[in-house]
Amino acid sequence: MRPAIRLAGPADRPAVVALDAACFPKDAWSETSWADEFTRPDRRVLVADEGALAGYAVLLVPPATDDPVDLLRIAVDPAHRRTGIGRQLLTAALAAHPDRTVLLEVAAGNEAAIALYRAFGFEEISRRSNYYAGGEDAVIMRRQEKDHD
Ligand SMILES: CC(C)(COP(=O)(O)OP(=O)(O)OC[C@H]1O[C@@H](n2cnc3c(N)ncnc32)[C@H](O)[C@@H]1OP(=O)(O)O)[C@@H](O)C(=O)NCCC(=O)NCCS
Repeated sequence: MRPAIRLAGPADRPAVVALDAACFPKDAWSETSWADEFTRPDRRVLVADEGALAGYAVLLVPPATDDPVDLLRIAVDPAHRRTGIGRQLLTAALAAHPDRTVLLEVAAGNEAAIALYRAFGFEEISRRSNYYAGGEDAVIMRRQEKDHD
């Protein structure tokens, strides 16, 4: 069954916090950060819902439409990976903001995420050396509206 992608509501928060901790053991966001993500007016939290939570994505959507949207987080339950849920979440996230440039930052060694982003037309625009704990570089990627259909 393909999950439904929808905007998260307050009732989704505990499951999102738990899945974030499972997906990002070294840099999960705190309860306080998640409380912010669920309430700030410039944030959009999407969930992949198949009865249980299968994945989520968080966007920062500045009110000024000339400013780029930031994809802050996307993750899929390890038990459900490589079944198209990441693609579904990203499709929904981008479809909600078709005329905006989208930026994101990803660890240089995160091959799964980089492959997903490239498949959606994101391109590397810069790097930050030694950005992550452990010395890994951050890759900044951008998807411009004019770069794709
Ligand atoms: C990145 C992530 C969200 C992808 O989610 P997913 O549901 O497994 O991805 P999908 O099944 O939709 O894959 C879509 C495409 O992405 C690419 N991809 C996904 N996982 C991949 C992997 N492990 N290796 C290579 N390419 C991969 C492929 O192009 C894939 O298409 P294909 O299956 O037809 O080849 C998932 O691996 C994840 O949650 N990782 C941990 C969290 C994370 O690092 N998030 C990104 C930083 S915020």
